[in-house]
Amino acid sequence: MAQGGDNWWRDGIFYQIYPRSFQDSDGDGIGDLAGILRRLPYVKSLGVDAIWLSPIFPSPMADFGYDISDYTGIDPLFGTMEDFDALLAAAHDNGLKLILDLVPNHTSSQHPWFVESRSSRDNPKRDWYVWRDPAADGGVPNNWLSEFGGSAWQFDETTGQYYYHAFLAEQPDLNWRNPDVRAAIYDAMRFWLEKGVDGFRVDVIWHLIKDAEFRDNPPNPHYVEGRPPNERILTQYSTDQPEVHDVIAEMRRVTDAYRDRVLIGEIYLPLHRLMAYYGNDLTGAQMPFNFALLSTFWSARSIETIVEDYEEALPKGAWPNWVLGNHDRPRVASRIGPEQARVAAMLLLTLRGTPTLYYGDEIGMHQLAIAPEDVRDPFEKNVPGIGVGRDGCRTPMQWDASPAGGFSGVRPWLPLPEDHIHWNVANLEADSRSILSLYRRLIALRKASPALVAGDYHPIAAQGDLLVYRREAEGTAMIVVLNLGPDPIAVTTSAIRFGSEILLSTFLDREGERLEGVLDLRGNEGVVVMQPHI
Ligand code: GLC
Repeated sequence: MAQGGDNWWRDGIFYQIYPRSFQDSDGDGIGDLAGILRRLPYVKSLGVDAIWLSPIFPSPMADFGYDISDYTGIDPLFGTMEDFDALLAAAHDNGLKLILDLVPNHTSSQHPWFVESRSSRDNPKRDWYVWRDPAADGGVPNNWLSEFGGSAWQFDETTGQYYYHAFLAEQPDLNWRNPDVRAAIYDAMRFWLEKGVDGFRVDVIWHLIKDAEFRDNPPNPHYVEGRPPNERILTQYSTDQPEVHDVIAEMRRVTDAYRDRVLIGEIYLPLHRLMAYYGNDLTGAQMPFNFALLSTFWSARSIETIVEDYEEALPKGAWPNWVLGNHDRPRVASRIGPEQARVAAMLLLTLRGTPTLYYGDEIGMHQLAIAPEDVRDPFEKNVPGIGVGRDGCRTPMQWDASPAGGFSGVRPWLPLPEDHIHWNVANLEADSRSILSLYRRLIALRKASPALVAGDYHPIAAQGDLLVYRREAEGTAMIVVLNLGPDPIAVTTSAIRFGSEILLSTFLDREGERLEGVLDLRGNEGVVVMQPHI
């Protein structure tokens, strides 16, 4: 299971590494590829199957690598192409797949394509980006807003037009209606595919195509004061246009020309819109990221509804996936608390669908409050003080109790929390009941169990803080019983048959316990139970 073959990305578990923060090997306080290589045995020891690296390409780092100035190079901060080749080879030698971050929606404003494009109105690359004349009053062409604050239009003195940037002004959007742009990005994809990378996580894939007429976006009637200013308008015309699916199908043909590659889409959209990203007849992304758990109210009933709605909405043959954290969202341990973080781990690793873990969640890393002088994230700098900052979930991996957590020998680019002296890999590895041990046990259990990897999902009726479901395959049934609250619960569902056996508790202290029809759960406890064969 989970070893190569067509199904590897369905059966496997993904692990996201934010390269700046995993391991510094050259003493500049910033993580790098050689550092990741050094820590590969740890990644392997978790039992995961694939690593996704956030961008490692040459970049002015205005948005920490999501502003690319060369799609086929490695930024010197992260190392050299030789370092990359060594990492890829070592990953493969260890049975790990390697996924890169493709950022096709925008480049850096310092990318040679944009430098050319902005140089004159008749430059051959002019139409590679989105240029518009000023409005009649000389102002911005329409009301579209940047996700990072302010108008999405930047006036360019040299040529007297505005260019569109969905994110920073340093991140001009490419014009995906232009076939030359498509061809150039597909060439970059092939460059990495030829090297043997196993696929791409495609950044903001739902942004690629914009309304052909650039109509004004409607106001958001549900805007809540205090939320980021870009939420004042909906993105009806600036994102999620029907033509985007043709582009994604094209991209998919690029990856499908190679064996066993995967296309993952970053998509923040409501369920019914998200499903379209599987594409007609599943010709779109194999894994349109499902971020429902990132923002849900953490209660048994909401999660039950989310899972059921998602399962029901999946197109025929489409494979589900689940995510608990990433480099843009507050750490799960802070969102729901450290006790529930263990329950969340059990949820993530027992649901039907490919799980993606975010580095550090397996050691319970929490969101760090960043002092104003330490803020690095451009989003927080542009829209300060309302909690949009992403630095707090990007802090260095906590390997040990030393001052820089074993991440670096010098002061890291972002601080570590003081409690890293307890919450670190070295400590938690030595503790057989730690969250890290729990993650390892859950991963091992999943991988050993066809019911958990590929079995059907059946919700089981429950009330209050209880979430219960059955996973079933090849005549084996696992019941997952999660207590999403702090109080003990005596579970008496008929699913807990006489003779059922606890395979794992989130407390890691009751494996092998035989149940006699009742299951006494402690507060914040989850268990995986195997039903007896009948
Ligand atoms: C995606 C990335 C985020 C980045 C943005 C712009 O949402 O995950 O980190 O800032 O795209 O590229």
